[in-house]
Amino acid sequence: MNTSTDRNFEREVWRAVRPYNVGILSLYDVGVYGIWNPGIWQCPSQSIKDFYRRHVRDVHLEAGCGTGYLPAHCIPGATQRSSHEAPSLTLLDYSPSSLKWSARRLRSYQPALLHHNLFLPLPPVTRPFESICLNYVLHCLPGSFEQKQVVIGNLKAVLTPGGILFGSTILGQASASGWRARRMLDLFNLIGSFHNATDTEAGLRRTLSTHFAHVRCTVVGSVALFAASDQPLP
Ligand SMILES: C[S@@+](CC[C@H](N)C(=O)[O-])C[C@H]1O[C@@H](n2cnc3c(N)ncnc32)[C@H](O)[C@@H]1O
Repeated sequence: MNTSTDRNFEREVWRAVRPYNVGILSLYDVGVYGIWNPGIWQCPSQSIKDFYRRHVRDVHLEAGCGTGYLPAHCIPGATQRSSHEAPSLTLLDYSPSSLKWSARRLRSYQPALLHHNLFLPLPPVTRPFESICLNYVLHCLPGSFEQKQVVIGNLKAVLTPGGILFGSTILGQASASGWRARRMLDLFNLIGSFHNATDTEAGLRRTLSTHFAHVRCTVVGSVALFAASDQPLP
């Protein structure tokens, strides 16, 4: 890539992160998990939570953590357990506000914090992660699935050999669950908070299969729930 392409790409990366300020974060949980998932994307939030509970492990990285809604709701005792019995949790986000918000919410875990752009290799870790959740992040990231592949590679580099990458992503127009979903996809792609107009389940599978031996994708409404590992999946 030349310098101006790099600059354009960095601008698109930032357009996807910029909305996550304190105002939006304070509305996010109700908006996304209470209204948008059931009403627009036709994927019950319960399906995403059940999927999370099934895959999260003790040494966990929450990549693109946002408000920390899923760990707060799905890791038992996440908001009240005492630190000595807490599993190891690391929160990563490129938005300083998201990181601060989720760190406060999940403080009883004493989480490690990484202010980091997922398109860049992660800093070396002393203890690789047993699970990494990448929920509702892929549809924000600029580029095609081929370009987003670098993010999957960067995350795989910090997983244990049998570790699991899982999460969900909103697919593009071809999978849209009704006219409301199509309108919202148009709008969010126009303003740059989503970059998923052409994302398909097949593209997602291909991208994950480039890095992992075992891949599973299930589409519910407009949303693909995915898990990938080099070990057979649970
Ligand atoms: C739609 S929110 C998802 C939050 C949470 N994972 C959830 O499922 O509720 C996307 C999050 O990914 C972060 N993000 C977007 N692009 C990123 C990038 N290139 N590197 C790291 N984080 C990014 C945003 O700042 C935001 O907090």
